[in-house]
Amino acid sequence: MANEQIKIFDTTLRDGEQAPGCSMTLREKLRIARALSDLNVDIIEAGFPAASPGDFDAVKAIADENRGPIICGLARCNPDDIEKVHAAVKGADNHRIHVFVATSAIHRQYKLKMAKEEIINSAVGAIRMARELCDDIEFSPEDASRTELGYLAEVVTAAIEAGAGTVNIPDTVGYTVPAEFDRLFRYLKENVPGIDDITLSVHCHDDLGMAVSNSLAAVHAGARQIECTINGIGERAGNCSLEEVVMALKTRNEFFKLDTNVDTTRLYPTARLVAGITGMQIPRNKAIVGENAFAHEAGIHQHGMMQHASTYEIMKPEDIGISKSNLVLGKHSGRHAFRDRVKDLGFDLDEFEVNRAFQEFKKLADKKKDMYDGDIEAIIMNVDNSSAGPWTLKSLQITSGTEMDATAMLTLIDENSAERKLAATADGPVEAVFIALEEASGINLTLQNFELHSATIGEDAQGEATVTVDFNGQPYRGHGASQDIVEAAARAYLEVINRILRRRERGLEESPTGNDINRATI
Ligand code: KIV
Ligand code: ZN
Repeated sequence: MANEQIKIFDTTLRDGEQAPGCSMTLREKLRIARALSDLNVDIIEAGFPAASPGDFDAVKAIADENRGPIICGLARCNPDDIEKVHAAVKGADNHRIHVFVATSAIHRQYKLKMAKEEIINSAVGAIRMARELCDDIEFSPEDASRTELGYLAEVVTAAIEAGAGTVNIPDTVGYTVPAEFDRLFRYLKENVPGIDDITLSVHCHDDLGMAVSNSLAAVHAGARQIECTINGIGERAGNCSLEEVVMALKTRNEFFKLDTNVDTTRLYPTARLVAGITGMQIPRNKAIVGENAFAHEAGIHQHGMMQHASTYEIMKPEDIGISKSNLVLGKHSGRHAFRDRVKDLGFDLDEFEVNRAFQEFKKLADKKKDMYDGDIEAIIMNVDNSSAGPWTLKSLQITSGTEMDATAMLTLIDENSAERKLAATADGPVEAVFIALEEASGINLTLQNFELHSATIGEDAQGEATVTVDFNGQPYRGHGASQDIVEAAARAYLEVINRILRRRERGLEESPTGNDINRATI
C-alpha cells in the first residue's frame, strides 16, 4: 500500500518573519518564495496582508509569480482582513485564505473579551465570507492546545460546517507535550463529525523545545499538514523547523509511513539563504543544517565511519544538498560553472546580476586560496545590496592600535559619480566607520545589534557583518561581507543608510524592512 502524503505548509514569510529582527524586504521575500517553490513545499503562507501595505504588496508579488505552490495569506475574522488576503493572493492559480481566532479561556477573557458562542459565530461568519471569495479556506483556533477539549471540538465542527477545507491546530505558546498533543488529535478525530473529509493540520511553537516532536505526534495521530519554517525561525523560540520535521519523516519512513513532496536536496541551500537574508545565523549544532550536523570529530566515530558510514550517520549529507566537497569553484572556473552553482545555492539572478557577482568572484578568487559556497553567498548578498545605491563605498582607510584612538577615512560615490570624503575618530575602528558614515549621509542611527561571523572556514575567510539599527522608531537591517571585517561592517551600515535614502526618495512609501510600519497585532 502506498504511503499517505503529508502537506508541507511553510510559514517562514509570515510566522517566521514575526521573529524579532527577521523582517524582510519585498525583494528578499520574493527570493525566499522562489527557493520555497524549488523546495517543492505544498503551501507558502506569504504574509499577513492586513498588517501593513508592505506585507500586502509582498504577498501579492509572490502570488502573481504563480510558481506552483498554493499561496496563502493570514486574516483575522473580519471582512477587511479577508478581502485584503483575497486581493493579495488571487493572482496565484492556487490560493488560500487562512482565518484565525483565539479560542482558549485565557485569550477569550483577557485578549478578546468574548464569550464562547461569540467566538464560534465570528469564526463561522468569517469562514462563510471567505468561502464566497475562495474555495480553499483554512481555519485556526489560536491557542488550541490550551482550549477546553469539548469546546475545541465544537469550534472545529462549526468551522468544517461553515466550509473550512483545512483545520489547523496551533500550539501557539509552545506549551503542549507529545503525549498530550497525540490525545488532543485523537479526541478531535473521534468527536468531530466530518473531520476525515478535511485536512487536519498542526502548527507548533518551540518555547519548550518540542515543536518538532509535537508536530510528529500530531501527524502520528492523524494530522496530514505540518506548518513549519525554514531553520525554525519564528516568534520567541520559533516554530517547528521544516528541515527537521521533513527529514524525520524521511529518515524514519518505516515508522511513520508518510511521505512529503519536498525535494530534500534543496534543504541546505534554502536554510543558508534564509539565514543570509534574515541575519539569523544557523547554530553550528543545529540538527540537519548546522555545520556540525555531519562532522565527526571523535576518533572512535571517524574509525566507524571509515568502516561504514551507517555506523554513525543516519542521513547522507547529499540528501539535504550538502555537496561532498564544500570546496566549490576556483579562480579558473568559468561563468557557466559559476551560474550553475549560484542556481544550486537557491539564487535566482538575472544575467546582469550574474555578471556583477562573477566579476566580484574573480576578484576574490585572486586573493583567496580556496573558494566555498559561503563565499559565493556572501558575494551575492554584497552585490545585491550595493547595487541598489545611491551610495557605494569607494575606499576605506583605517588607523588603529592598542595605544591610540581609531580613525576611519572613507570615500563614498553617488549615482552621479560625485565623491564625498569623510574622516571620524572613535575608540574602535568599527565605531569610527559608523560615525563617518552617519556624518557623510546626515542620518543618525541607533545601533541595536552588530554581529560578525566567518562566511567559510580558513584564515583568509570573508567576514559577514549584520547590523540592526533603529531609525525614527523603525528597525532596519543591513549585511556586508569582505575579507576585511571593518569593511564588512561599513558595507552593512551603508546598506541601511541607502535603504533609508531610497525610502526618502519614494516619499516614505515603502516600509523599511518589509512590514514593520503599522504592523497590526495578532
Ligand atoms: O501560533 C499561532 O497560533 C498562529 C496562528 C495565527 C495560526 O500563528
Ligand atoms: Zn504561530
